[in-house]
This record gives sequence, structure tokens and C-alpha cells, in this order.
Amino acid sequence: MKLGIIGAMKIEVDAIAAALTEKKTEICGGIEYITGKIGECEVVCAVCGVGKVFAAMCAQAMIIRFAPDAVVNTGVGGSLTRELSIGDIAVSSTVVQHDMDTSALGDPVGLISGLDLVHLSADDELCNKIIAILGKMGINCRRGTIASGDQFVCDGAVKAKIVERFSAIACEMEGAAIGQVCTVNRVPFCVIRAISDNADTGACEDFPTFAAKAAKNSAEAVITLAGSF
Ligand code: ADE
Repeated sequence: MKLGIIGAMKIEVDAIAAALTEKKTEICGGIEYITGKIGECEVVCAVCGVGKVFAAMCAQAMIIRFAPDAVVNTGVGGSLTRELSIGDIAVSSTVVQHDMDTSALGDPVGLISGLDLVHLSADDELCNKIIAILGKMGINCRRGTIASGDQFVCDGAVKAKIVERFSAIACEMEGAAIGQVCTVNRVPFCVIRAISDNADTGACEDFPTFAAKAAKNSAEAVITLAGSF
């Protein structure tokens, strides 16, 4: 098994890089990829940078250069449901791009034209494994749609619109771009996001306060996942 792991920020990947044995680094397309092993599992991990474009670049280069069998996007997200509080974890059933909008042409908001899909499905086996690991860690989690967009959501009205349109449980800025690249390349993927804020007016204070701890919990679940292969 070779597992690809992508986080947007250093705090989302640091614990994973620290857990690697036989560590090597390589730069490809301007992004640093760290390879190594967790137990018997080969791992390639990277910090992609914030937003959908960096995330897509990173996933595509990773797939071409390192050919992972599956890709996990780990990190933090804003909660869109009362069922997920700060410190809890959202695991993808599907991912959507909430800011993809050709509705003026008659399409549903979120439609990815070339694929003719709004929702891209994450890999059930990978996601169920993560959910079992989170259960053992005693972390409350929910599986549902994770919505990505090039926007830090910190406004009740914006949040409500994303929930109304996509019934999403968490928002972030990279997962659906990684999901799109993986779908096109037929690589199974999963997005796991620990809640750092509630994507409302308090998010600007909550995010810097809780992101590092939340990111570490998500990374630790992914380390356990890698160790299970
Ligand atoms: N990542 C963590 N919190 C977020 C939010 N509120 N909006 C977008 N991305 C996030």
C-alpha cells in the first residue's frame, strides 16, 4: 500500500512527517513531497498550500510522480452542523465545490461541467476505516458532505447557503479539489477534517485558537490508518 497524504498547512502535516521512517524529500512542481514509511505502509505526504488551485496542483503532481494507491486529505474545517463541535471530526461521504457556479447557464450550483457531477464520492472503505479509528480514539465524528471553496467562511448567511445547497457538514478550502483530481485519475480518496471553528462570526477568533490541536488529532488518526495497512 502506498498512501498519499495532503494537508494545506504545515500544522496539518507535521505529525505525519515526524512519524515517517526512511524519510526522503523531493520537490516536484514547486511543492515538497516527503516520502517514507509508517509500519509496512509506504507514505508520500505534502503541504499543498491554501486553496483549491494549490490543492489540485499538489494532488496531480503526487499522482504522476509517486502513484499512490489512495489519497487522504487531512486538516481542519469549519463546522456546518450542530452535531460537530470544535475538536470533533468530519469524514467525507462526498465532496463538493460550493463556489463552482455556472447557474447563470442553467446548471445547478456546484456542478463540475467536465464531469457533470456536483458531488464526488469518497472511498467508503478508507472512510469507514478512519471512522473506526476515531471511535477507538474517543473522538466524536460524523460522515457527510464536505464543502470546499476559495473562501474562509465566517458569516452565518454564507454558512446557511452552503448548508441549504449541499447539506454539507463541514467547510474547508482544498478537499473537493483533491477529490476532483483523484476522481479524474481514478485514485480512491478520503477527506478528514477536525473542527477548528463554527464557520460563523466567531470563526476568526476560534480558528487561531483551536486549529493546531484539531489538526494534530486529524493527523494522528491518519497515522493510525497508515499503520493499519
Ligand atoms: N478551515 C477551517 N475553518 C474554516 C472555515 N471557517 N472556512 C473555510 N475553511 C476553514
